Amino acid sequence: MYRTNTCGELTLKNVGERVTLCGWLQRSRDLGGMTFIDLRDRYGITQLAFNMETNSELCEQARKLGREYVLQITGRVIERASKNTKIPTGEIEIEVEELNVLNEAKTPPFTIEDQSDGGDDLRMKYRYLDIRRAPVRRNLELRHRMAMLVRNYLSDRDFLEIETPMLIKSTPEGARDFVVPSRMNPGEFYALPQSPQQYKQLLMVAGMDRYFQIVRCFRDEDLRADRQPEFTQIDCEMSFVEQEDVLEMFEGLAKHLFKEVKGLEFGKFPRMSWHDAMRRYGSDKPDIRFGMEFVEINDIVKGKGFGLFDNAPLVVGICAKGCAEYTRKQIDALTDFVKRPQVGAGGLVWVKYNADGSLKSSVDKFYSQEDLQHIAEAMGADKGDLMLILCGEAMKTRVQLCALRLEMGNQLGLRNPDQYAPLWVVDFPLLEWDEETQRYYAMHHPFTAPKPEDEALLDDPSKWGDIRANAYDIVMNGVEVGGGSIRIHDRTLQNKMFHTLGFSDEQAYQQFGFLMDAFSYGAPPHAGLAFGFDRLCSLFGGADSIRDFIAFPKNNSGRDVMSGSPSPISDAQLEELQIATTVKQ
Ligand code: AMO
Repeated sequence: MYRTNTCGELTLKNVGERVTLCGWLQRSRDLGGMTFIDLRDRYGITQLAFNMETNSELCEQARKLGREYVLQITGRVIERASKNTKIPTGEIEIEVEELNVLNEAKTPPFTIEDQSDGGDDLRMKYRYLDIRRAPVRRNLELRHRMAMLVRNYLSDRDFLEIETPMLIKSTPEGARDFVVPSRMNPGEFYALPQSPQQYKQLLMVAGMDRYFQIVRCFRDEDLRADRQPEFTQIDCEMSFVEQEDVLEMFEGLAKHLFKEVKGLEFGKFPRMSWHDAMRRYGSDKPDIRFGMEFVEINDIVKGKGFGLFDNAPLVVGICAKGCAEYTRKQIDALTDFVKRPQVGAGGLVWVKYNADGSLKSSVDKFYSQEDLQHIAEAMGADKGDLMLILCGEAMKTRVQLCALRLEMGNQLGLRNPDQYAPLWVVDFPLLEWDEETQRYYAMHHPFTAPKPEDEALLDDPSKWGDIRANAYDIVMNGVEVGGGSIRIHDRTLQNKMFHTLGFSDEQAYQQFGFLMDAFSYGAPPHAGLAFGFDRLCSLFGGADSIRDFIAFPKNNSGRDVMSGSPSPISDAQLEELQIATTVKQ
């Protein structure tokens, strides 16, 4: 037997027991008469004591061991003289009697402790060492726990976990596909699934009624803190349901996770239409942990000779409570923030409601004290508050003000990671206009059903932008953690949708023929949703980046710096795949 116990479980009640432990040498301290070693495994750290007086040979041996050596020791559990109350095993140590070096280790490139001296890139290159650190290990433990809770919750409600293929047909919707050449079918390619969307719908046609899968998805898109090229969804689909049934089921799942993992209870999650979310927060995933809602002031500010406001389709602002004392420098920094290319505003107008009741603004030339008072009233400002105003084309300006609102939320400490504000955003537009290609795209995906009351608008192209979908997102703290929709189960409506999206009959059949065929054999009404599992985990773990919750993530250029992928492949491989000439050109 390699070990009798783990390094995380021995306490005062084990004193006197003879135990054998295995683990890695995290740190050793040589105090002359005594040598102490922190032995680490997945479960914790146990202190080993080597006494020069009682066993000088063993103590000498212990002194020579390097960091991250793999050890097996046998000894007696004794009470420690100086206790460490910060760890569960901190009141005992092992008086070592036998030491067996199971493996040596090179000096690691960074310290493998809770606080590491290794930078991001170095830790990613040696991710297997990084995972030995307790904070990373805890993240993976949380992920496992959440996966188990999800599986049990859904299984208890008759959902079947069914695996769907990873090598599928490439379809031109959503993000870019990762493609895989087929050796046996030269010149042809599979795609890795962006999601199992079509297969889960086929499973509904197949009568499986309730499906789920904790499944890897692949999207070749630009990466950010909350986006990885391969990520995991909790993918779900249900038959014979309406939107209300779906929202209730998955709100239940989210509440179950909150209760089990965080000990938090929630009432009914609030709901907001997509239009309201955009109007009030400039985002389809508003962070509602704090207010600072948008106030539109077109009516108040126009016609006073300030050209910028007069010519702008929208003038809209937020009120930052208690910020009237902001210095020139602070306001300049906010102006620079909104002018950054990532935000893209032309400038920032501010109005201060000073503590003495006077009002001061960056546009005093055009607005009297009375005018400013009207603005302050409209924006619900009190003495001591700062109003920040942007103007321009409506949608762009809202998105810019959203960035500023979140920045102010950060500056004012209003985005507490321990506080959770879940929200359903419903009634998304069905279609989204793309300037570049001058056509409409499905905002969610082409299988999403329009609201029945808006269905007739599909016959009038001038109204396509107004059609609402039976689509919903679940948002938490400004993060889109999941989304789904009621699907089209009627073949005629699906055809109409494909036409709206610019597919000819042949193109639609070529791309989605198998689904259209399936729908002609009795598709039940069905709907579903997918959670972004990595995002859900990072939210529950209180971290910004989903990378912390993925064992082996990619960096922002989509590279695995540890294994060095992607990488060129040999000429022989290329030839076998018959793509050599294409790649080499
Ligand atoms: P959607 O495209 O909205 O819907 O994806 C569902 C959820 O997956 C997460 N997500 C990501 N997480 C990490 N990295 C990425 N690159 C990434 N892309 C998406 C988000 C998102 O809310 N088939 C539909 C679902 C359905 O209609 O049932 C779908 O994939 O949290």
